[in-house]
Amino acid sequence: MQYKEYYSKHIRPDQSCLISLMNLDRDFISGKRNWIYDSKENKYLDLTGSYGANTLGHGNIVRDLAANFLKKNSLSFLQGNRGATAAKLAATFNRFLSEETNQKEWNIQFSNSGAEAVEIALKMSHFSFYKKLERRKVKLQEAYNKARKELEKNKDQKLIDILGHIKEHNNAIFDLPLKMIALEGAFHGKTVETLKLTYNQKLKNNITHDSSVIRIHREDEVKLVRQIEESKMSIQVPIFEDGRLKVNEESYYPISAIIAEPILGEGGVIELSSKFLHALREQATRIDAMFILDEIQSGCFRTGKLCYSHYHGITADIYTFSKGLSAGFSKCGITAIQMKKFPKGFDLIQSSTFAEDELSSYVANKTLKLAKSHFENNIDNISYLNSELRKLQHIYPSYIKEVRGKGLMLAIDFAKDLGIRNYEFKYFFDADMFGYLLSSALLNNESIRIAPTLSNQNSLRVQPSINIQKDEVDYLIKGITNLLNAIKSNDSSYFFSHMFEEEIGPFNNLTEEVKEAITKDMTQTTFFLNHPIETTDVKKIVTAFKYISDEKLEALMHATFHLQKFTPYYATDIIGDNGNKTRIVMLSIPVTSKVLYEKFRSKELSTVVDKVQKAIGFAKEHDGSTVGLGQFTSIITKNGMFLNNMGLNLTTGNSYTAKLAYDAGEIQDYLRINNSKPTIGFVGFGGNIITTMVSLAIKDAKKTILFHRGKENLNNKVLACLHELVHYISGMNCENSRNLREALKRPYETIETLLYNIKDYLVISNSLELLEECDVIYTGTNSTSGLFSIDNLKNGAKIVDLAVPGDFFGPTEKDGKIVRVTKGGIASFPKSYNKDVRINIPSFPLQTNQSFACMAETFSMGLSKIKDNVHIGPISINDIEKINIMANSAGFKISGDKNINSM
Ligand SMILES: Cc1ncc(COP(=O)(O)O)c(C=O)c1O
Repeated sequence: MQYKEYYSKHIRPDQSCLISLMNLDRDFISGKRNWIYDSKENKYLDLTGSYGANTLGHGNIVRDLAANFLKKNSLSFLQGNRGATAAKLAATFNRFLSEETNQKEWNIQFSNSGAEAVEIALKMSHFSFYKKLERRKVKLQEAYNKARKELEKNKDQKLIDILGHIKEHNNAIFDLPLKMIALEGAFHGKTVETLKLTYNQKLKNNITHDSSVIRIHREDEVKLVRQIEESKMSIQVPIFEDGRLKVNEESYYPISAIIAEPILGEGGVIELSSKFLHALREQATRIDAMFILDEIQSGCFRTGKLCYSHYHGITADIYTFSKGLSAGFSKCGITAIQMKKFPKGFDLIQSSTFAEDELSSYVANKTLKLAKSHFENNIDNISYLNSELRKLQHIYPSYIKEVRGKGLMLAIDFAKDLGIRNYEFKYFFDADMFGYLLSSALLNNESIRIAPTLSNQNSLRVQPSINIQKDEVDYLIKGITNLLNAIKSNDSSYFFSHMFEEEIGPFNNLTEEVKEAITKDMTQTTFFLNHPIETTDVKKIVTAFKYISDEKLEALMHATFHLQKFTPYYATDIIGDNGNKTRIVMLSIPVTSKVLYEKFRSKELSTVVDKVQKAIGFAKEHDGSTVGLGQFTSIITKNGMFLNNMGLNLTTGNSYTAKLAYDAGEIQDYLRINNSKPTIGFVGFGGNIITTMVSLAIKDAKKTILFHRGKENLNNKVLACLHELVHYISGMNCENSRNLREALKRPYETIETLLYNIKDYLVISNSLELLEECDVIYTGTNSTSGLFSIDNLKNGAKIVDLAVPGDFFGPTEKDGKIVRVTKGGIASFPKSYNKDVRINIPSFPLQTNQSFACMAETFSMGLSKIKDNVHIGPISINDIEKINIMANSAGFKISGDKNINSM
């Protein structure tokens, strides 16, 4: 069996795709200490350390001991039995915990994973909270009864009613759901409850939300207290004294626990300060909540002590442990709680089939003891690792922002601006995959296996086993140095040649101007959403991929699609002729129309729409006033109708596109040169933009011919559009359309008679024969291939082709005949106050001061004072007029024809 394919199909389809694309996979078959070997006997230095679980290294002695232990022990799981091995492990924890804290006695609860250990800690906190609440309620009940007896003596019904209200008030407070306090950046596991505590939103989307969590900022003690106080409630305790009913207010905090990792692991290996840890401890004591320290990653002697927090003299009420108990192969979760805080009765309700099992208890016990002694014996090499990594940071301060952590829980934090060094890094950085890009380079070039932290892609975790050797440290430092030098020398092959067979092009570095523009603060901003149209456009942006086949590039775009989002690619400030200012930001997603369309057509419509919606969310967060939907973002959101504008202006830009396209037909020039009105054809009557443009043409045309592609000439859609058009024409009062209006007034019984009456001015046809009558043709069907060529046209005809792909095909000159074809109109930026505006995105086809019409509409809205205005869905002639006034006031003008596809 091809197990890799089977794994991909049946276990992790999306992740497998990414792993194989980035060449992050090997056939690993054996391991020794920090080295692992593949089937071809290549060896790799393993620094992921099984995400911190492999404290003793591969092939460690506990594996052999465990194998012997299993051989000797024939019992399967036994529950409800006071097991010796579990008791031994509990004793070891008691010993270590009492050595490191001032608490002698600890209750030890067993489970099977880190997340489960945290679950138990939370469950215990809630259980304990409600137990304490029961006691409080009993006392309150006594107070109610005392007061009531007195009130009844006096037969004071009004006061008895008030007492009833007090009870209701208190009960409503007691019914409030309990909250927990957790840190920004926290990671506590992936069960639904622990996910609530976990900070990384991506892991929670569509699964849970954390309304029960008070999220606190690291190192901000003032805010911590303020947030706690914001949740404070007042319980009313009735007292009958001196013949009067009084009420005492007592504080009530519906908070069962404060939980923290003393070193935030997946958040990027960030140590909490001693001061902040003490503040957390104090606050938990003050509000009588459990203080839980999650030492699942930092504990079990990875930093030299059982608990990292003990370096700071902190004692938690509850600790959780897991990874470092496994010796890299056996699963065990431990929740240790101070004996005096252990809620009575809890052990009657807590159990799990596999918890307290012999094997994992045995392994955990051995591992803990070995880890402690190995750390003590290997302290020199561990210090060497720490100091060498920190030295590296000093040599490359612009690439390595920090080296963080302690002992063997370390991370190299790469500088954030590497994410905008070149468009290739930006591609991976924006998809939160920069860390994997570095990992892939290190695996393939340096034979070092390393991984980023889960919620902080810029941090590569360094978590070798406790037995790390000096030569291994040197090997690591050499590998990372090579990587840093490859960044320095812009060596794109170093990062990509192992991912693609083709030659790798050069990096496309962002200019300083663009870097500054996209990182500058955004205020009063207008956002325009866009993306590269074709793979050739993508290759202009990420030039390292310029020789990669289109299929592979598309595969990359598909594989990273879920991770991609709209991010700034260019920004600049503009001033309108109306004197208003706005910052314009081009929000791009590196995905072609084709890939978007394929996603849209597959079952991922809502994912695609969601990306656009999130871009609007981004705009809102960044003080945006307006969002414009460029290219496919309009189509895939049904012209914006699937979107929530979130109080911002939102536009498809279609009105101004229609207006400028109409102007590109140069009707006024025709009138001037020929001294007569043109016959104007519209191909694609029935479609929204073309149909709306017809309304603009009526006053200018000698005759208007409406072409459509329906089988019958007068189908329902055409009739409906015709009905609206007739209604519009009848309401016109310009001199030019008088003949047509008169003709429309003639009595008619059938629609055919009506059409006959107006045939000299307006014709509908589903054949293209009449095209050769037309002087100017506007065309915009959704046909996937060309519909007409010069052969169908009159000499000198002007065609405005809005269709993508175009409706016109073939040459524009033939046998002495010439036609002129344009793709629509391009606007120019307002001139009065601006320097030249150039949208500097590598794939962008526009010249200095040029803007596509839909962009001009968006920017005009941004330069107006309007708010919460939506121009989505079908456009109308009124919309066109309104937008035209706005664009005029902002100072946008038609700058000429365009020969590039519409946006
Ligand atoms: C601090 C911390 N808590 C909890 C967990 C969850 O552990 P598990 O993956 O065993 O459920 C992790 C895992 O990385 C962790 O780092």
